[in-house]
Amino acid sequence: MHKKIIITIDGWSSCGKSTLAKQLAKELNYVYIDSGAMYRAITLYFLRNHVDWTKHKAVDEALKEITLDFRYNEHSNQSEMYLNDENVEYVIRDLVVAEKVSDVAAVREVRQFAVAQQQKMGEKKGIVMDGRDIGTVVFPKAALKIFMTADNAIRVERRFKELFEKNPNVTIEEVKNNLEMRDYIDSHREVSPLRQADDAIVLDNTNLTMKQQLEIALRWAKEKIG
Ligand code: DC
Repeated sequence: MHKKIIITIDGWSSCGKSTLAKQLAKELNYVYIDSGAMYRAITLYFLRNHVDWTKHKAVDEALKEITLDFRYNEHSNQSEMYLNDENVEYVIRDLVVAEKVSDVAAVREVRQFAVAQQQKMGEKKGIVMDGRDIGTVVFPKAALKIFMTADNAIRVERRFKELFEKNPNVTIEEVKNNLEMRDYIDSHREVSPLRQADDAIVLDNTNLTMKQQLEIALRWAKEKIG
């Protein structure tokens, strides 16, 4: 019996973390957890309910009303984000949410709320979790930590294609501005900013196909799993 480990994948917005994390989890028969979806779902709740996230009390009250869980969808073969029993997997990908999520994710109480749940999900190991602070704060002892990066232009192009399919009104400028803004806020916030863990391995996928990046990550994983 192979030992089960925790694999963390952190990095900049839109450099393919979730694609790799999902494929890696599938190959290893592990559970994939999209930590960004949790921050997005919280942001959606705050926007819908006009919660002022600059006020501690308002945030604390609102968090009490929020239940997040991932449920497996047999048709799409992936786990999807539920906010208070509602499937929000698709709405949380909107640019409306993306425009505010970094501000919401910088709020200390929001992070404590999300991180506690993420750590619980990792208790049994056998998970691949992607995000910004997974290798540094959520699972500092994870056996394999990957830090992903890719050229800016490539990242903008990839995210644009993805969003354009859903909304043909979106412009490349909007996408570029949003990525730059999120990267800036995510890496400059006071509470657990995005940074590479000292023991993380860098995976730059600018010139890699999805298949190649999976092969590299699988090799790293197998070295750790034994
Ligand atoms: O991975 P994503 O693009 O879906 O994440 C959305 C936002 O959530 C991202 O801009 C920053 C925040 N986030 C975070 O602060 N910490 C994480 N572990 C994951 C995401």
